[in-house]
Amino acid sequence: MNNIFKKLKISLVIVGIVVGVGYLANNGINNIEKDNTNESINNSNEVLLSKLDKEILQYEDMESDYKELEYLEGILNNQYFILINKDNKLDKSYVPSNLKKSEAKFLDYAQDNNLENATADAAKKMFDAAAQDGISLIGVSGYRSYSVQKGLYETRIEKNGEEKTRAYTAEPGASEHQSGLAIDILCDEYQTLDEGFEDTDAFRWLTENCYKYGFILRYLKGKEDITGYNYEPWHFRYIGNEEVAKDIMNRGLVFEEYINEVKNKINDLKK
Ligand code: DAL
Ligand code: ZN
Repeated sequence: MNNIFKKLKISLVIVGIVVGVGYLANNGINNIEKDNTNESINNSNEVLLSKLDKEILQYEDMESDYKELEYLEGILNNQYFILINKDNKLDKSYVPSNLKKSEAKFLDYAQDNNLENATADAAKKMFDAAAQDGISLIGVSGYRSYSVQKGLYETRIEKNGEEKTRAYTAEPGASEHQSGLAIDILCDEYQTLDEGFEDTDAFRWLTENCYKYGFILRYLKGKEDITGYNYEPWHFRYIGNEEVAKDIMNRGLVFEEYINEVKNKINDLKK
């Protein structure tokens, strides 16, 4: 692709030189023989120049479309940009290869305090930054294996029934926790996984700052039909791209919406 652009650029430069030389030669002729033929030569040069202008504009459009396409494909190709939901499940055997125990503070009794490597580091940085601002974040759940998620799902179905369980708990294979890229976060002052967490300073801090560490709030209020889950102010997802995380948080989007938007833009550019 780059070669095509290089060749196009070279051809445009050559056309430019030919037109330029023609123009100069033409002016020379003008000075010697001021006859009617010069006028027609001038006209044809103007036509050539405006054609050149158009080709340059077309070339610039193609180049910016190409750059945009490269940028958008780069977003999707990022290894952390995996969509996991009810329609996009992880394999039963999937275990991240680079799990590690998070250095971020977790509840004493939390069993799931492993995270994917970069996610663990980003969480630690985010928790430290929050502490600097007087906010004491606590991790509640990080990586959960397929079998842990299965146990959780089945126990809750027995206890709370199917409808309520499915609104908050992913069936095995459909949980982002199995990827090691998700972390449930509460704070010292509020340690219950319910909507009350949104009234804390910790939640406000997280929504304003999580993007700086590559995290997004994953299950938004009002977007239940798209995510398939109820609002969860505690569930944060690492996507490994601060710029995109900022855009998603600023625009109040959910991951599904953003991914669809990027895919649609790519399809339009490829038409
Ligand atoms: N609470 C989220 C949906 C999960 O179980 O992964
Ligand atoms: Zn969660």
